[in-house]
Amino acid sequence: MAQGLSRTFRALFPPPRFLKMPTAGIDMSASGVKFVVLNRSVKGVVIEAFGTYRFKKGVITDGDLVERSTLQTVLKRIQKEHGVHFANIALPEQKSYLFQAKVPYTADDAVLRASVAQNISEQVPLPASEARFGADRLSREKDIQHVTGVAYARRVVSEYSDAVSASGITVKAMESEMNAVPRALLSQGDTGTCMIVDFGRTTTKIMIIQDGKHPLFATTLDIGGHALTQAVQKFYNVTEDEAKVIKREKGIIPEEGNVGYLSSVLTTLSGLRDEVSKRFEYWQDRARNEKSVKPIEMIVLAGGNGSLRGLPEYLMASVGVPVRTGDPFVNLAPFNEVVPPIEFEQSLSYSVAIGLALREFNDD
Ligand SMILES: Nc1ncnc2c1ncn2[C@@H]1O[C@H](COP(=O)(O)OP(=O)(O)OP(=O)(O)O)[C@@H](O)[C@H]1O
Ligand SMILES: [Mg+2]
Repeated sequence: MAQGLSRTFRALFPPPRFLKMPTAGIDMSASGVKFVVLNRSVKGVVIEAFGTYRFKKGVITDGDLVERSTLQTVLKRIQKEHGVHFANIALPEQKSYLFQAKVPYTADDAVLRASVAQNISEQVPLPASEARFGADRLSREKDIQHVTGVAYARRVVSEYSDAVSASGITVKAMESEMNAVPRALLSQGDTGTCMIVDFGRTTTKIMIIQDGKHPLFATTLDIGGHALTQAVQKFYNVTEDEAKVIKREKGIIPEEGNVGYLSSVLTTLSGLRDEVSKRFEYWQDRARNEKSVKPIEMIVLAGGNGSLRGLPEYLMASVGVPVRTGDPFVNLAPFNEVVPPIEFEQSLSYSVAIGLALREFNDD
């Protein structure tokens, strides 16, 4: 009860800004950097600042920081132009090792972590001294605790945190992007199992999230929406900007007279659909055979191309579960109370950044 009162107290009277410094969520990927700063208002959590800085190909490749100086230039601009001093950052899926382990049950989190650490080199292809990991309780069977986690090589962790720190931004927390995305897209009471498809510019991430928060499977495909834009560009012989407008307006909805257009776009998109349904079938099959694995009940779309018109219907036809466009505002102040400064379609690009920034508010 006392705890309940103090939680309400904190929610209604947020601490002064100098006690709780605003913390940005920063998403660094192959196409560029995106950031979001959230703040508490009486209506709920609101977006205070956001931005996208695109960079040329090759700065971050397959999760590796290839051109650190370009990334740092962008981060310094974010720091200067938006006064960002603290940040939560995401580590890329491509460099992650998801694992599941069984350890003796204990109620003590520190003891549990120590037993996971002891066997970490059996779970992931990294020497114990080189592995950095986060772990969560999955389920308990008598004296056995099922644990799920994600590990990264120490080198990757320091590569990203050093680049951010050297830009004058203090890193408060680091996590895998597979933890950040569901925090943004799934509402806190949502405990179902789903597949999230983050359809970005140059890559697409497929993640399977059990019980609303545990990433159990993830992969990155080198297929992104830019390839669709290029297909449109070629078909109509237009500029890239014009092709983006056409793609946005037409989507992949069959209409009279657009057979040629559709087939040019679907040639590219069918590769993605095949990958999604392959992973989906594989998981459903595991769920039928393994007690601790739950079947996917829904597919949630994210990323800038997640709002492509007709995409939910197109994917639904091959998976047979509902496919919906994600809502990264679902854990923010209600739309009818505070209109977010980011347009809804654009917001899907900010799923990782919003999820990272939400870390500051979820345990209030
Ligand atoms: N309304 C829309 N309909 C379809 N596509 C859109 C829409 N708005 C933006 N896009 C596309 O979304 C893409 C950008 O998405 P996003 O910001 O998620 O990519 P990214 O995270 O930077 O890329 P990556 O993760 O591959 O590095 C671009 O290809 C853009 O053309
Ligand atoms: Mg992305």
